[in-house]
Amino acid sequence: MKRIGVLTGGGDAAGMNAALRAVVRTAWQHGAEVVGIKQGWMGLAEGTYETMTPGSVSGILGKGGTILRTFRYPEFATAEGTAPVARTLKKLKLDGMVIIGGDGSFRGATKLEGEFGLPIVGVPATIDNDIPGTDMSIGFDTALNIAIDAVDKVRDTATSHGRIFVIEVMGRNYGLLAAQTAIATGAEEVLLPEIPYDLDEVARRISQGYDRGKQHAIIIVAEGAGKASYVTFEIKERLQRGVRMVVLGHVQRGGSPSGYDRILASRLGYEATEMLFRGEHGVMVGVVANKFKASPLEKNTKVSAKAVLRDARLMQALV
Ligand code: F6P
Repeated sequence: MKRIGVLTGGGDAAGMNAALRAVVRTAWQHGAEVVGIKQGWMGLAEGTYETMTPGSVSGILGKGGTILRTFRYPEFATAEGTAPVARTLKKLKLDGMVIIGGDGSFRGATKLEGEFGLPIVGVPATIDNDIPGTDMSIGFDTALNIAIDAVDKVRDTATSHGRIFVIEVMGRNYGLLAAQTAIATGAEEVLLPEIPYDLDEVARRISQGYDRGKQHAIIIVAEGAGKASYVTFEIKERLQRGVRMVVLGHVQRGGSPSGYDRILASRLGYEATEMLFRGEHGVMVGVVANKFKASPLEKNTKVSAKAVLRDARLMQALV
């Protein structure tokens, strides 16, 4: 391998830069040149890239976002989207690529390896943690800690006013970020896409809580389970109490990566690159039970609800 490419795709996640740094420095140890593709799949189509050196990734370990930038580029899935990518690949003459991203990026990576025969290793990075082949994806821990910090702050004002707060947490169609935020903050309720809910029941439990002397109620809503504005309206209608709402949104995607994410990203970036040089590809590398584990790229595009159901049970047992 003389020349490898690297890109960050999908929504940015804290720790992507740490993974990129590890890829570039590991490849340099092998004497290879590294090409950083800018703005994810769109950069691959438009041919925007830069040569990366150990120096060009210095000082980025603790930075949020991705210095390579990223872009939602569904066009790559279409037949028309493939032609410009083929042109860039021909020009760049890459021997392999590391793709840092989430399920959408691994769908793209599967296509790239399948159609162009380019060896690829994927690195899981998404705040949603919805990648089956790893216990944790890069960015989840940071996003979870941001959400916990926000809910803890909201609780202070909720208690002072005796109010109900509905707090919407990201995670797309997957409820893990919301379920774990609820566990870690001792929220009264959590609404998840994986579990049907009844707002009459939610209102009834909250009312009982106030009757027992509770001073507040926190309802965490996973974005995939419904809009916080809808839940807020419905709960207000039923309880005739002060209800306020907070949508955490992209706040959870930004900021400096946690220590956990910096280390996970450094490990995965390093191992993905080593695998490419060992000739292992067509896979994503994750960490399962504290060990590196490779699994086929195409198996990392759809997650099961198991982990969310497990955490929802725990949350309910402790509420
Ligand atoms: O996949 C990461 C994520 O932050 C999801 O939690 C969220 O649904 C989505 O991306 C938002 O995407 P965008 O930044 O394109 O609005």
